[in-house]
Amino acid sequence: METRKLETQQGVLELVPCCDSGRINTLSMDPDLRIFRPPDRQHQALVKIAASEDGCVSIARSENQLVAYAAFHRPDSFERMGTDTTGGIYELGAVEVTPARRSGHLARRLLELTFETGLFEDRVVIATLYYWHYDLEGSGLSIYRYRNLLERLYASVGFSVFTTDDPEIRGYPENALMARIGASAPQEVVQSFHNLRFTEKGMPMSGSPGQ
Ligand SMILES: CC(C)(COP(=O)(O)OP(=O)(O)OC[C@H]1O[C@@H](n2cnc3c(N)ncnc32)[C@H](O)[C@@H]1OP(=O)(O)O)[C@@H](O)C(=O)NCCC(=O)NCCS
Repeated sequence: METRKLETQQGVLELVPCCDSGRINTLSMDPDLRIFRPPDRQHQALVKIAASEDGCVSIARSENQLVAYAAFHRPDSFERMGTDTTGGIYELGAVEVTPARRSGHLARRLLELTFETGLFEDRVVIATLYYWHYDLEGSGLSIYRYRNLLERLYASVGFSVFTTDDPEIRGYPENALMARIGASAPQEVVQSFHNLRFTEKGMPMSGSPGQ
């Protein structure tokens, strides 16, 4: 997979799309990558995802330290999108950039490089925006500005916002469901995604994208 060098004010980074799990294992984790879990536990989780058949972990490294990542995998089976039977729905489960390197478009470059591989063109990739994952303290942003930041970031690589009756999203205007429908995603995968957006009784079973 083609890697890329990125010049930053703090030196040159190497960006690696869908990095090999063994390589991730040899890197140390930036100690400030701790939004989702303590860094050592997140490191283990990333190695596991990268080693799994359906996983992809793209990373940015500075020398031997991992400073940013984006992790893709099949949605967990207890989540509604995880009940997809086509096997074509994936999830951008987490993206994190160490605080000292934020606002320099590193997250965007990492996502761009991942999608440029073409690996996700025949898939639907979802991203669930949950406010309980937002780094409001570190960013100094309001909850809605943070959602807006994420929407812009994901939209820059082809994601759109979709309505859903998922109570964890519908009940919270701070949250959102976004998805990127690959250019060659089979119709059955796309239809499965639309069906799974609405599963609550009394709600439509399918629909078109919309705010
Ligand atoms: C969300 C996150 C990954 C973004 O990383 P990043 O490298 O700073 O993002 P980028 O620099 O590519 O910026 C993406 C957009 O957000 C904007 N942005 C980034 N930081 C911002 C800030 N503090 N204030 C306002 N806008 C900001 C950028 O200007 C850019 O918008 P633009 O393209 O219109 O200029 C990073 O803030 C992070 O790790 N947050 C904690 C984890 C998290 O929230 N993950 C997402 C949920 S899984």
